[in-house]
Amino acid sequence: MSTTQTPTLTLIGPGRHGTAIAGLFASHGVNISLFHYKPAKAEAAARRLRPIARNARIDIATSLEEAAQASPFLALTTLWGAPQQAVVSALGDLLDGKILIDVANPLDVTPTGVQLRRPVEGSAGQYLASLLPANVGHVKAFSNLATAAVASSAIAEASPKAVLPYLADSAETSAQVRPLLAQTGWQPRYVGTLRSARDLEITGTYNQVSGRLGRNVLDVDEFTARFGPEQTPDA
Ligand SMILES: NC(=O)c1ccc[n+]([C@@H]2O[C@H](COP(=O)([O-])OP(=O)(O)OC[C@H]3O[C@@H](n4cnc5c(N)ncnc54)[C@H](OP(=O)(O)O)[C@@H]3O)[C@@H](O)[C@H]2O)c1
Repeated sequence: MSTTQTPTLTLIGPGRHGTAIAGLFASHGVNISLFHYKPAKAEAAARRLRPIARNARIDIATSLEEAAQASPFLALTTLWGAPQQAVVSALGDLLDGKILIDVANPLDVTPTGVQLRRPVEGSAGQYLASLLPANVGHVKAFSNLATAAVASSAIAEASPKAVLPYLADSAETSAQVRPLLAQTGWQPRYVGTLRSARDLEITGTYNQVSGRLGRNVLDVDEFTARFGPEQTPDA
């Protein structure tokens, strides 16, 4: 990523988790373009984000087309399943060549509460992979983390750094997204392809950790002691 150009992240579906993710990037100098299919919800997210943005703009995209054009990086932060299908289908060719950051867990919100599902594909990440065109770079991150951890400036500024484990569908996708993830102050750590998505989702390996920075979060020393050195994506 160029040091002279301010990066931009487009975030589609800013709710609880997505707004925290947007806040983490915006507080570290990443411009944010927000798209919500209910414009009032995009406005509400923008109002929460503008006071914490540092050297970064918070813009609202009024259409998915505008949202897609704002950045090569799109974070999809709706619930999994039907909303993801709706967004992917509406984006269509606009996804060509984009990097899509998937944060979802396989949780359904039902009238009787939140239900954990076991997708037939194996994980929410593999379900989304089944919807994506071949020319989209698929990244998974933030699904193992509680919203409070993502929003914590103490964790983002920790030393040694907090580890942000991520999955990527190829070495090229990993190389493209890594500098963006590093902007957060967390230390990005490649932990595999989307075939390992379940590990990065609720109840998965990286969701079942606790360290000095709290639940779901290990610092770089703790992470290496627990999981060994960083993997290298296959070229
Ligand atoms: N919250 C957590 O602690 C947490 C932790 C890890 C991962 N995650 C994952 O993060 C994702 C979001 O969770 P959340 O708790 O933030 O849920 P949320 O608060 O319901 O946020 C999702 C947002 O997406 C919006 N949306 C739905 N369809 C859309 C569309 N077609 N275009 C644009 N926006 C759309 C929703 O709007 P409406 O509600 O108005 O339809 C809602 O505002 C989920 O996949 C979840 O598994 C959450």
